[in-house]
Amino acid sequence: MNRKYRKTVIAGNWKMNKTPSQVKDFAESLKALIGRVKWCDIVICAPFVDLPAGIRQFKDLHVGVGAQNVSEHPSGAYTGEVSVEMLRDLGVKYVIVGHSERRQYFGETDDTVNKKVLAVLEAGLQPIVCVGESLDQRDKGLTLDFVSCQVKAALAGVAPEKMRKVIFAYEPIWAIGTGRTATAHQAAEVCHHIRAVIRSIYGARVARSVTIQYGGSMNDQNAYELLAQPDIDGGLIGGASLVPEKFAAIINAANQE
Ligand code: PGA
Repeated sequence: MNRKYRKTVIAGNWKMNKTPSQVKDFAESLKALIGRVKWCDIVICAPFVDLPAGIRQFKDLHVGVGAQNVSEHPSGAYTGEVSVEMLRDLGVKYVIVGHSERRQYFGETDDTVNKKVLAVLEAGLQPIVCVGESLDQRDKGLTLDFVSCQVKAALAGVAPEKMRKVIFAYEPIWAIGTGRTATAHQAAEVCHHIRAVIRSIYGARVARSVTIQYGGSMNDQNAYELLAQPDIDGGLIGGASLVPEKFAAIINAANQE
């Protein structure tokens, strides 16, 4: 973390878990577990149908609400899709873009990710852009090159003044939902590299203002060490964000003076 230049953001990614009627219980449990959170922003990225309940229940807690996907199109004949304007109108502030599960199971490419990033920023929302390599790519020594390509593609056409709103999440695919976390050293190396790529496009001032999270089996046991790395400015947390005690412990690790 480096709180002088950028925000620390702890974001939960509920994936396809929890129904709208389960949101209230979660919010009440979380409220009882976290004190005054001064040093980090908290976000819950929930399924679309949970978003209205999330916005109601998390308001007092100062937890921002995010979606997990959005259409790249503004409106029209796109059955089953949800637009940035619909999310904005509801009070959603963040959108996860390009999660590896969407790239893998729903055919999202670097190009669709880029279009979604542009649409999210245009609407004044904050994209949480996910990048990360497969185990095969890591074993072949391709991690840094692959992640550079993903970062550059995601940012094509993004104006420098919009970069303050962009959050990156480095999520090695082999660490997601596997219980196998990247070591703090591995995570720090790639987050540092992502910042260097941003610096090469936008310069040092912009690069140091961008929040870069780590995600992939982050939990109450390993959060402190990961967050102690200067280029890791928070986490995108799947499994552990479903359990109020575990999510609160990660928030508390980020919220230490
Ligand atoms: P995980 O998921 O914490 O369950 O590994 C992280 C993510 O996919 O965002």
